[in-house]
Amino acid sequence: MTALSPEQFIDSQRQDWNRVAGGWEKWDRFFDEQMSFLNHRLIADARLRTGLRVLDLGSGTGYPALLAAQTVGPGGSVLGIDLAERMLEAARRKALSLRLSNVSFQTGDVTTLPFEGASFDAVTSRFCLMFVPEIPKAAVEIARVLKPGGWLSAAVWSAPEKNAYLTTPLAVLKQFIEVPPPDPTAPGIFRLAKAGDLAKMLHDAGFSGVVEEEYLAEVRFPSGEEYYESLMDIAAPIQNLFVRLSGQQKSDARNRIVGSIGQFRRTDGIALPIAVRMVAARKPL
Ligand SMILES: C[S@@+](CC[C@H](N)C(=O)[O-])C[C@H]1O[C@@H](n2cnc3c(N)ncnc32)[C@H](O)[C@@H]1O
Repeated sequence: MTALSPEQFIDSQRQDWNRVAGGWEKWDRFFDEQMSFLNHRLIADARLRTGLRVLDLGSGTGYPALLAAQTVGPGGSVLGIDLAERMLEAARRKALSLRLSNVSFQTGDVTTLPFEGASFDAVTSRFCLMFVPEIPKAAVEIARVLKPGGWLSAAVWSAPEKNAYLTTPLAVLKQFIEVPPPDPTAPGIFRLAKAGDLAKMLHDAGFSGVVEEEYLAEVRFPSGEEYYESLMDIAAPIQNLFVRLSGQQKSDARNRIVGSIGQFRRTDGIALPIAVRMVAARKPL
């Protein structure tokens, strides 16, 4: 269990993600190019089609809400919710530049969805649910707001040992400060990494036909330096550890992270493994 109450944890999440919103906007195009396959997978798993009304949980700067809006078209609509208003401001700017008028974003907590029952045809969520302190409660809320027969599709990070993209800096940080091993019961990057965990919570919340698949892929970077800069700009949980280092330690840690990334070098750049758990479930008819 986390030492913080659910309310305190949610408040710290809001602050964390608001703080890194500028970094997400700065690296937006890069991560869009690298990880858009996940958005397409989520859209397919949620069975999105023209005319549907979709809720995206923890939209951040708009993934996968913006692709969902393009998929459901002008006859459908997408609502993205997130704790962090500054992340949503970036999502709104992107919607405007894509000329999408069928998507909107509002602040809110996944654990207490401010919507009537059976308001949405489908729900999507990318890299949010593991940061929610009371996931079973959120699962019940998702089931409540979905229409019977509607699908939820969610992406969460899988096992740390398959996610060098995320764990390489953690291994270096451990050389300087105590980094507790990921607590499988506390909200955080790897809270839903274990096979079956999210699936069971969804099943217990009344979902049927729960399927999950671990999706292995790579994120490509032109150089170790760009990898380091992008991660430090966007990864709030890793930033939180980094601020505990002294000035000299920060510079040493940076050099070691960039150095250790060299092991993933290929002829065409750096290829960092990622493993994502994709879970889909249906509210019974
Ligand atoms: C890693 S970002 C992912 C953003 C986006 N879905 C993406 O994949 O690019 C996690 C997002 O989840 C949001 N979040 C965390 N806990 C939440 C909660 N309880 N309710 C709503 N949003 C939450 C954060 O504010 C943050 O924007």
